[in-house]
Amino acid sequence: MRIAIASDHGGFELKGVLAAQLARSGHDVIDLGTDGPDSVDYPVYGKKCAECVAGGDADKGIVVCGTGIGISIAANKVRGIRCALVASDTMAELASDHNDANMIALGGRTTSAEEAVRWTELWLATPFSGGERHERRVALLNEM
Ligand code: RB5
Repeated sequence: MRIAIASDHGGFELKGVLAAQLARSGHDVIDLGTDGPDSVDYPVYGKKCAECVAGGDADKGIVVCGTGIGISIAANKVRGIRCALVASDTMAELASDHNDANMIALGGRTTSAEEAVRWTELWLATPFSGGERHERRVALLNEM
């Protein structure tokens, strides 16, 4: 799968861990920066990753900032993006199962590398359950 990944400085270290793990698992990783620990603005990187996914250059996207909050807000402003902030196993599974999330956001200062890898794998492995109820709600999101 083609997976785009981006972060600000608060997520830079975790982005590196995730990108390496995804590549080891055989994914085609598109790293959109940031490329170092210097302070940058998370909206720039959330937008960049979201546009890569919305434009069809990647199948899914992962964004990381200090908490995952700011960068998820940025990603969700791009039409066609459903970016879920993930902070537990349940949220990782339901992001796919209920919301058909095409992106997730993680917190580099709030999440261990082990948790981030596990949540990413759970999100990727869980299919959208579909069904009239969830299809209808995702369609309503897509109209916004
Ligand atoms: C940057 O210091 C921090 O505000 C950012 O990484 C993020 O946590 C914002 O939501």
